[in-house]
Order: sequence, then structure tokens, then C-alpha cells
Amino acid sequence: MTSQYESVVKADTERLIPIVESALLLPVSRGEAPILQESMRYSLEAGGKRVRPILCLLTAESLGRPASSALSCAIALEYIHTYSLIHDDLPAMDDDDLRRGKPTNHRVYGEGQAILAGDGLLTEAFGILAGDTTLSHEQRAEAIKTLAEAAGWRGMVGGQSLDLEGEALCRMGKPYDYSRLQLIHRLKTGALLRASLELGAIAAGAERDARNTLRDAGAALGLAFQIQDDILDATSSSEVMGKRVGKDEEKGKITYPKLLGLDGARNVLREVTERAICLLQPIPNPASLTAWANFLSTRVN
Ligand code: IPE
Ligand code: IPE
Ligand code: MG
Ligand code: MG
Ligand code: MG
Repeated sequence: MTSQYESVVKADTERLIPIVESALLLPVSRGEAPILQESMRYSLEAGGKRVRPILCLLTAESLGRPASSALSCAIALEYIHTYSLIHDDLPAMDDDDLRRGKPTNHRVYGEGQAILAGDGLLTEAFGILAGDTTLSHEQRAEAIKTLAEAAGWRGMVGGQSLDLEGEALCRMGKPYDYSRLQLIHRLKTGALLRASLELGAIAAGAERDARNTLRDAGAALGLAFQIQDDILDATSSSEVMGKRVGKDEEKGKITYPKLLGLDGARNVLREVTERAICLLQPIPNPASLTAWANFLSTRVN
């Protein structure tokens, strides 16, 4: 039987994915470096759940604005996310062969081109925001600043660095505590999910209070998202996930299931998801984002 939130999520997905897909490739449609263009398109077109763009569009709707008002923000988020995956899969990082059900970017185009594809997507994301003339100058500047903080060294990139450092600590048998793990997850994944809601709020012209509320809810959602990613790495299959699983254990990585056990990780996931849902309730129309928070914590891929 389909639960109520699953039908909301299904309806939102069917409605919003075509909007995202219709605009996703436009920024990489013209240029003079064909291999780079092909490799950026390869990773964008490989699929993926499009969670960040969908949450961004839903946030604009939760504040009474049309999804289209946040489209450039949604696309910029997916560019940053796709770049982060290309770099995350490189031999120098997680050294993965499979992503979104296909060979990883560096497996197809080589490491050099994959690094450049990531660089190209990262840079383009900010161009997309700067060039959206439907947003005011102030909104564009705010969106750029917010995304830079979330994607950069105070956010995702910083989290990835701490993640690498954590792996090295594990290899040396050094102690690794829960607060460090929380910090890594909050930064490497939480920050971009947080920005997904905050950029939606900026594009919708939200007041400061609503924006902060959505930022906090997004941070909680983002932490929950990575906890579930850890759980799925320990429990799912590569056929379902479209990426290699069991890799965290193999690398001796510290994850939520590793530190708290599967039940412990699931309990924290529930708590953090409930926190996100509570935070969302003062928003004018919280129904869809609430359904997504429930869905993401029980997602199977
Ligand atoms: C995978 O993100 C990497 C993490 C931050 C956990 P997603 O699970 O959103 O990956 P795609 O976009 O669906 O491929
Ligand atoms: C990825 O974390 C976070 C990113 C910033 C890409 P993981 O390394 O756990 O993501 P997957 O499992 O490879 O998708
Ligand atoms: Mg990683
Ligand atoms: Mg990885
Ligand atoms: Mg993972």
C-alpha cells in the first residue's frame, strides 16, 4: 500500500522533474571544448534522483511562489552536486567505478578530463545564478553567497577534506568520536541540502525569519540524508543504488552504522528527520517538504 507521503512525493516528482530536465543541459549546450562538454553532459544525463533541485523548487512553492521562480537555483545546485560526485569518485578520493548506474566520469574520460568536468560544472553554477535576470540583483548576490558558503571550504569541500583526514586517522588506529562524524556529515552533505532550501527561499523573496527556518530545516534534512546514505552503503546493493556499496566498511570508514550500529543509526535518523519536520511546520505550506523529509529518511536508493 502506498502511504500518503509516497503519493505526494510521486506527484511532486512527476511534476517537477520535467521542469528540471528541460533546463538542465542548456548551460552546457554551447562551447568550444567538445570532450569536456561531452563529459559534463555525461554525468548530468546519467540521471540521479535530483533531490536538491526538487527540494529547492518545493521550497519556493511552500512560500506561495511558483517552482519556476527558483529554477536557476535548482539547476545551479544540481551542477554543484554533480561536480562533487565526479570528484568524490576519483582515485584520489573514493576511487569508485560506478555512479548513477554507469561507469564513473574518470573511467570514461580519464582523470584529467573528469577533474576539468567537475571544475566546469562548479564554475558554471555561479554563472547560472549571476545570469538569472528574473531575480533581483540582491537575490542573485544572496544566492551566490549562500551557495559559495555551502559548496566551498566552509561547507561541502571542507567536509570532504575532513572525511579524507578521518580515513587517515582510522588507518592509523587513532580515536574517532561521534562529534567529528556529525561535523563531517553536516558539512560534506548537509550543507548543500541546507542550501537547497535556502536558495529556494531566497528566490521566493522570503523574509529573514522564514529563510532561517528553512535553512535550519534543510540542515537537519541534509544530515538525515547522509545518515541514510551510510545505512544504505551497509545494507543495499549496487544494482539498486547505481553505485558501489559496502565501500565504507571496506575502507574502514567511520559511519553512523559503524559507530552506533544499524539500529542506533536508524534511531538518530528518525530523530533528525523529526527535527526537520518540526522546523518546517511554521512555513505557509509545509505539506510537500514534510512528505519529502519522511520519504528521504526511508528511501531505498
Ligand atoms: C549521493 O547523493 C552523494 C551524497 C551526498 C550522499 P545522491 O544520493 O543525491 O545522488 P544522486 O544525485 O541521486 O546520484
Ligand atoms: C559524498 O559522500 C559526499 C559528497 C560531497 C559527494 P559519499 O562518498 O558517502 O557519497 P557516495 O556514497 O559516494 O555517493
Ligand atoms: Mg566520499
Ligand atoms: Mg563516495
Ligand atoms: Mg556514501
